Amino acid sequence: MKTYLRQARSIAAQEVAQFTGEGAYHGSTRPRPAPVAEAAPAPVVDEMWPRSLDRYSATERRSIDTFTARFANRYETVAALPVPTQEAVMADGVTFCWCPIDEAIREAGPLTRSVLDEMQRHVSGRKRYVYIDSKIQYFRPGDVPVDSQHWHVDGTIVARDPRVQRLGHALLHDMRARLEGPAEPPTYLSYQSSEHCATLFVTAPVSLTLPELIPNFDDLDRQVRALAPTSVSQPAAVIVRFDGGSLHRAVAASDTGWRLWVRCAETDRRVELSSSIIECYGMVYRTATGAT
Ligand SMILES: [Fe+2]
Repeated sequence: MKTYLRQARSIAAQEVAQFTGEGAYHGSTRPRPAPVAEAAPAPVVDEMWPRSLDRYSATERRSIDTFTARFANRYETVAALPVPTQEAVMADGVTFCWCPIDEAIREAGPLTRSVLDEMQRHVSGRKRYVYIDSKIQYFRPGDVPVDSQHWHVDGTIVARDPRVQRLGHALLHDMRARLEGPAEPPTYLSYQSSEHCATLFVTAPVSLTLPELIPNFDDLDRQVRALAPTSVSQPAAVIVRFDGGSLHRAVAASDTGWRLWVRCAETDRRVELSSSIIECYGMVYRTATGAT
């Protein structure tokens, strides 16, 4: 399956969809498009093992226990690069979706390659796979880079099996297994070329009472917003490190312009796309009012 897309960009060709808050990419409860080919299920690695869900499968329990969810909110600046021009972002040409880093470095445009070269120096090497995701998007004020502005964490342990259906859901994120381990969460390096549409990261530890298994991020988002913990906007052209216990969220663009976003994921999970999502990966989501 295609993990990169080489495509000329223009303001006129920027694809725009209406913002729904449904989270089209991850954590979505929407029906998924039928996969092109059903890949054999990947073996479950420790990092992605839904340990808490395992405790429910042996019983007929229908209710989900709560626990104290401790988010360490790792957020570290690892490098600061020169802020690129708008023309350099627009002209960079190639974007990625779960592309192995070596292949991404071979195929990347000059700006993305300079980001990947720097990221590669900061890869920890503690995980089996290193994947690159990237987007080149043109925003107007109010546009959102993904179809959700919920506080969330990346790389959750997602289960969609019959045990989940017995609990009355189509999908559950095993938050307890992610936050309490013992397996290390996936880790990430992230870059954004400009600050006019910057991800917001919580930077202090946060404890919440959460169900062990959650069907979406609605309740988590409400609780984090009510707490309003210390957070920062990712600065322009800076590479930051975070992990699967780092709360963050998308924010609507405050200004007009192009943005390159690059994320490097270190994970033990082998990712093989079963359907091509890269064509719609650079979509922007327009809020009706332009409100954040
Ligand atoms: Fe995220």
